[in-house]
Amino acid sequence: MKKNMIKKIFATVSATVLAFSLTACGGSEEASTSGGNQAASGGEAAPLVVKFSHVGTPDSPKGQGADKFKEILEGKSGGKIKVEVYPSSQLYGDNEEQEALLAGNVHIINPSMTKLVKFNPAFQIVDMPFLFKSEEAFYKFWDSEKGKEMFAKIEPNGFKALGVWGGGGKSFTNNTRPLKSPEDFKGLKFRIQAGKVLEAQFKHLGASGVTIPYSEVYSALQQGTVDGQETMMNNIDTQKYVEVQKYLTKAEHGRLDYPVLTSKDWWDKLTPDQQTMIQEAMDEATVFERKIAKELADGSFKKFQEEGRFEIYELTEADKDKFREALKPMYDEFGPVIGQEFIDYARSLE
Ligand code: LMR
Repeated sequence: MKKNMIKKIFATVSATVLAFSLTACGGSEEASTSGGNQAASGGEAAPLVVKFSHVGTPDSPKGQGADKFKEILEGKSGGKIKVEVYPSSQLYGDNEEQEALLAGNVHIINPSMTKLVKFNPAFQIVDMPFLFKSEEAFYKFWDSEKGKEMFAKIEPNGFKALGVWGGGGKSFTNNTRPLKSPEDFKGLKFRIQAGKVLEAQFKHLGASGVTIPYSEVYSALQQGTVDGQETMMNNIDTQKYVEVQKYLTKAEHGRLDYPVLTSKDWWDKLTPDQQTMIQEAMDEATVFERKIAKELADGSFKKFQEEGRFEIYELTEADKDKFREALKPMYDEFGPVIGQEFIDYARSLE
């Protein structure tokens, strides 16, 4: 509760300061969207300001990825582009950031793939149980023509994808009992990000899912509004869920990863030179982010094992088979929603 209130106050203050500085600068917002203005005196071009908003902490993979992108792009542009990174839902939470991007209030966001469900249900492919055989398979999918086809589905909504960053395989935490088999989920309530696929996943396990914004999950767990949640390992670490949860099950039943999105409106107003610099910086930051996402996930799990604060269970292949069986009906249910050809292609990748 306390943590949530502090976050809310911080968000309000940040938004007010930002609104004030935009008004006070009289036109800096225009500069940030039009690709740089000639300053009134001296004829020097004002830098293009790129606002990058995300919900992760600065030390999460996407937090570090965003900071790396800033470092690379500001260096590459020789000061002609300035990147402002707003982490931890400071400006916009995960329910608002897509609309803020389309309205031009920020220029790059990095939501979880699942959050795109409100624009197209196909993005729930990341939540299909045990679909991607490995992390490599996941990246191959998004870097392929099929991945591009998927992103083309949200271009009419005004989005342009600049890349896909990694989070990791999801795990469960809860406060009631160790989760080792589908039966252990009976009657429990879990926080979910969004969408019918995650709702169905918990329903098929005899549990239920409640949609809660990321910034409110800690207090929902603390207050017992929900019994547990699922997310990737480094989020469990950086959000400090160990303070409010007893049991951790390393499951890797689905993925939590991030498209890096900009708005087509803003992008189309940039010069070809700016577009090239931004895309090149993004490609370099993507290589870095995917590498540290893996390192951070492994590091967080090792830390949990060493600390012993969670009671940990790691699903074996035999356990996973039981979950595969329990969740099999989801493939008939959601194949047509997501697109069978996408599911088949994802499954074919090693
Ligand atoms: C979530 O809502 O769980 C995700 O948005 C978390 C994340 O890492 O972005």
